Amino acid sequence: MTIALTAPTGKVGTALLTQAQGLRLPIRPLARRGEIPFDFTDPATYARALDGARTLVLVSPPLRDQDTRDVAVIDAAREAGVTHVVKLSGYRADEAMTRFAAQHRTGEERLRASSLAWTFVRPTFFMENNLALATSVTAGDYPAPLAGARITQVAVDDVAAVLLAVARAPEPHREAIYTLTAEAAHRGEDIARVLAEAAGHPVRYVDLSEDALRQDLHGAGHEPWNAEGILEAYRNVRAGGATMTTDDIRRVTGRAPIDFATWARRHAAAFRA
Ligand SMILES: NC(=O)c1ccc[n+]([C@@H]2O[C@H](COP(=O)([O-])OP(=O)(O)OC[C@H]3O[C@@H](n4cnc5c(N)ncnc54)[C@H](OP(=O)(O)O)[C@@H]3O)[C@@H](O)[C@H]2O)c1
Repeated sequence: MTIALTAPTGKVGTALLTQAQGLRLPIRPLARRGEIPFDFTDPATYARALDGARTLVLVSPPLRDQDTRDVAVIDAAREAGVTHVVKLSGYRADEAMTRFAAQHRTGEERLRASSLAWTFVRPTFFMENNLALATSVTAGDYPAPLAGARITQVAVDDVAAVLLAVARAPEPHREAIYTLTAEAAHRGEDIARVLAEAAGHPVRYVDLSEDALRQDLHGAGHEPWNAEGILEAYRNVRAGGATMTTDDIRRVTGRAPIDFATWARRHAAAFRA
């Protein structure tokens, strides 16, 4: 049973390959610069890369036309003989409250309409997103546009563990939708306190306006389309739309989700001065 994985060099893909290695489970990485190259933007690369795979773990890059690309890869997977697609989607994708969620919904709908078996894995915000704020946290500030709202997060290692558990034995997960969150939702002040404990120095929550975040995102090199999507996601958080918690990680992996304090301790070096 060959399992193919897209975006194997990204955060989720790297974690998944590490875990698969520990289990001595061979995964075929579909990378742009791989032995058999696979590029979402080049349909000519699809058939050879997917040939012989039974299960596809579909992790999508944040391209502006990713919905069209995902649909084309799903169709190519079916033609190549893939029988089950495990799609890494997004939190509340079916409601399409952000442009990223709307893209994921298009991919989900294509799978629902196809003859393929499928599983949707919908994580909330990755805890790893906090690493982009490491310079500020090191200097004692945790800037975010949360305005007192709570937010659920999930560790990338848990996302990878769920994808891998499903891909190894997909049959019981047919037409299942897993929403991945840690066990608690936190306010910005709680996140700052946890990071301070891990880093060993004071960290205060700094409430960011949308304009300030937009400027920061542009400064960090995000394309405007992508930056607006991130602003949409935080608008949803401020409206109370990201507080849901589930026990889906435990249901699939048999163990508790990684909590934010544990994650912060594991990544403490990134937040220390
Ligand atoms: N961040 C969050 O909070 C969050 C929450 C829920 C869901 N998600 C979803 O997670 C997914 C992103 O996963 P990630 O964070 O692991 O990715 P990532 O770290 O941003 O890495 C992007 C990956 O996509 C690959 N890639 C980029 N362009 C490509 C192309 N044209 N063809 C083939 N591969 C290409 C990159 O490969 P190269 O090495 O070749 O560049 C890399 O492996 C997105 O679908 C996002 O919606 C994220």
